[in-house]
Amino acid sequence: MRDSVLPPHSGGSHIQKEYKEGEPFDWRNVHDVFTWSKSGQVNMAYECIDRHVNAGKGAHRALYYIGKGKAITYTYHELQSEVSRWANVLRRYGVGKGDYVFVFLPKHPYGYIAMLAAIRIGAVVGPLFEAFMEEAVKDRINDCEGKYLITDQSFMDRVNKEEIPSLRHIFTTDSGNDTTEISIVEEARVESSFSEVEWVDLEDGLNIHYTSGSTGKPKGIIHAHRNMIQQYQTGRWVLDLHENDVYWCTAHPGWVTGTVYGVFAPLLNGVTVVIHGGRFSAEAWYQVLEEAGVTVWYSAPTAFRMLQAEGEDLQKKFDLSSLRHILSVGEPLNPEVIYWAYETLGLRIHDTWWMTETGAQLIANVPTRTIKPGSMGRPIPGIEVSILDEEGSPLPAFETGHLAIRTSWPSIMKEVWKNKQKFNSYFPYGEDWYIAGDLAYLDEDGYVFFQGRSDDMINSSGERIGPFEVESKLIEHPAIKEAGVIGKPDDVRGEIVKAFVTINHGYDWGEELFKEVRLFVKDKLAAHAAPREIEVLEELPKTQISGKLLRRELKKREQERATFSS
Ligand code: WTA
Repeated sequence: MRDSVLPPHSGGSHIQKEYKEGEPFDWRNVHDVFTWSKSGQVNMAYECIDRHVNAGKGAHRALYYIGKGKAITYTYHELQSEVSRWANVLRRYGVGKGDYVFVFLPKHPYGYIAMLAAIRIGAVVGPLFEAFMEEAVKDRINDCEGKYLITDQSFMDRVNKEEIPSLRHIFTTDSGNDTTEISIVEEARVESSFSEVEWVDLEDGLNIHYTSGSTGKPKGIIHAHRNMIQQYQTGRWVLDLHENDVYWCTAHPGWVTGTVYGVFAPLLNGVTVVIHGGRFSAEAWYQVLEEAGVTVWYSAPTAFRMLQAEGEDLQKKFDLSSLRHILSVGEPLNPEVIYWAYETLGLRIHDTWWMTETGAQLIANVPTRTIKPGSMGRPIPGIEVSILDEEGSPLPAFETGHLAIRTSWPSIMKEVWKNKQKFNSYFPYGEDWYIAGDLAYLDEDGYVFFQGRSDDMINSSGERIGPFEVESKLIEHPAIKEAGVIGKPDDVRGEIVKAFVTINHGYDWGEELFKEVRLFVKDKLAAHAAPREIEVLEELPKTQISGKLLRRELKKREQERATFSS
């Protein structure tokens, strides 16, 4: 019989030494960690790099890249020099405070340097997922009229310059064959390794991430430099980062986890950040854990499930004894996976919950707490959670309702780009409560149990997909008349994208057309958005009065089918 709870870590964590469970926590305590300029201002990039160099830790390893070819290392001092050189190039081409700089690069140190250089000079960075195709890239940059893009020549066939008129300069990380692009690596070589920091206010813009909901195109969520407070502190208390840790977050910075917990939180805590390029393979991932000697590992349930499916024989080939702390985010973490890690690695997986909009973790299994498999954990110190009914009144334990967070916390989004209405929609019951859009219940100890989304957003392998964006793309294909897209439950990916469509006259539905339509979405948007299943219907379910698509009906249909077939 498996235990229904897993006991806390044996000692040594920061939170154990610094916090007594149940005590109130004041986020202002964290302010002392940072360097404040004479004008009382800050800069995230400075806190991530210069603060450590100034404290005599310049020789400490900051980045450790394992990918194609030889491993690449940057010490904090080298990172400071390189970021400064890039910052000087960007400045020379007119990039300045408040400008939007998009970064479209693979998982590679250049992506980190690009982001930190832009932030150093006060620009707002917009990381793009490396697998985005032409339209996904275009929509995002056009939406906030981005002026600058840092990318790689091999990505340029997905950047349609003619259709992004706001772009003033494109920088590439390799020598360009097109004279209109600026080779930032080459130009940085001749720059000084010193650059002035642009001091900014805590409230000034830091980054923009486009994220999906159930309606409309992805929205630009803008975050401010004040995020450093909570990102530093969760890096310390939830990730439990100690100076000598070798830390690996498997997410690409195009997703919020890859930026916040792949770049900011670990660097704010002065640890060594592992970067691994390339796609998922169980063998390659175990290899990275062993070769880099990873001590703290932050990944997602789908990846853990895929590793589990590869079996223990593969895992046993690797020396994973350096691992000390494992965390998960992005989608429900099934108890099965927690037990797998506990039994094969002797470690608990610590689930964490947050969203692009929240800017940092809010609910988590911190090292000192008992884990209840199936629960995401409890609110971290300084955060208050409630479950509200449809009227906005708190519900008792074990009743499912809207997951709500009491405002405000340091890393809450600053705004939704040019969309006050969307911003306000997160606060339907007044400004005291932020409504996540997730459904959940609390148990008698305040542990939060995720129950699903209250809207139609799809979560496949932890990636957030808006059905509207996929539906819009599907109907651009000449064979498709109408489309309704839902998340279909899946054992490995949590959900897969499933489309229901009606077909135009003259088209024969079959394997060939299915492949063509799937590829159409994949080539224009991104592979993860392309439906894995497409089912043809005579008619899509709609509301009688307004003719609005009823995705709920499609979901119900799918669920009933699953029940009958199992
Ligand atoms: C979901 C990712 C279950 C949730 C950091 C949320 C989770 C959305 C968990 C945000 C978790 C995140 N268990 N579901 N531990 N963490 N989610 O913006 O539905 O990409 O609203 O941020 O992912 O996704 P986003």
